[in-house]
Amino acid sequence: NEPFEFIKLSKTGEKQNVGLIQLNRPKALNALNNALITDIANALDKLESDKSVGAIVITGNEKAFAAGADIKEMANKTFSQCITEGFIENWTRVANTKKPVIAAVNGYALGGGCELAMMCDIIYAGETARFGQPEILIGVIPGSGGTQRLIKSVGKSKAMEIVLTGNQINAQEAEKMGLVSKVFPVDKLLDESVKLAEKIAANSQIANALAKESVNVALESTLQEGLRFERRMFHALFATKDQKEGMAAFVEKRKPNFTHE
Ligand code: CAA
Repeated sequence: NEPFEFIKLSKTGEKQNVGLIQLNRPKALNALNNALITDIANALDKLESDKSVGAIVITGNEKAFAAGADIKEMANKTFSQCITEGFIENWTRVANTKKPVIAAVNGYALGGGCELAMMCDIIYAGETARFGQPEILIGVIPGSGGTQRLIKSVGKSKAMEIVLTGNQINAQEAEKMGLVSKVFPVDKLLDESVKLAEKIAANSQIANALAKESVNVALESTLQEGLRFERRMFHALFATKDQKEGMAAFVEKRKPNFTHE
């Protein structure tokens, strides 16, 4: 598993076209220290440059997806250290991934763990998953998207309640409020997440990347700007071989063979 200390990286799926990152710091409930985040970033670099990989799954273990940023590592940090080290700035690597990323969450996804899941494109949860932003209970606030991404998926009142109380929400509640797209039995979660990733990996990688970028633009722009961006990306895809292949395959009543060009 070189050169990773706190994750396992593999390829999976029938066609080996799904990258799987498993957080592997079980004794600390996958608390996200700098080394673990660096491992994730390096793994994503590898998977993004691997043309055979069409989608990525990030998961933890049955007890925890991740119980947050590593409190022991950050407890004695000073403000000036936070600034000069660029503390938690490197977490954005996950949100900046071009290939689709699915979070498969069993157990705790708290604080930075919940934020890490929200940086992914789709969250699938196991029945025992617990989500929350408990930072307020240790004298701080979420620092990696918990006050920003959460409100966009669950709305203001629920986001405020989660952020201001630190209360955990279970998988069923998370699904109902739209944080999670589906809930599965604990032992089926990873298989179902990989199946979803395989389905997505069968698409044109170029179309996947532009679809993802377009959906994300909706979170940061006006409707008019977003519609204009979407239309231009739609037009741009007509410059790809995959568009010609996809539409020809439809007309010829066969399956497309995308080459990601
Ligand atoms: N940081 C460091 N270590 C952690 C950790 C964290 N976030 N969460 C758990 N651990 C460690 C515990 O210290 C413990 O280690 P030891 O055995 O060495 O004492 C081990 O993991 C097991 O944890 P518990 O004994 O506490 O397990 P539990 O089952 O009793 O409780 C829990 C589970 C409710 C998740 C509890 O561990 C907990 O509350 N963890 C902290 C959750 C939290 O506050 N997260 C937010 C962190 S701040 C943040 O994330 C900032 C940001 O936005 C970027």
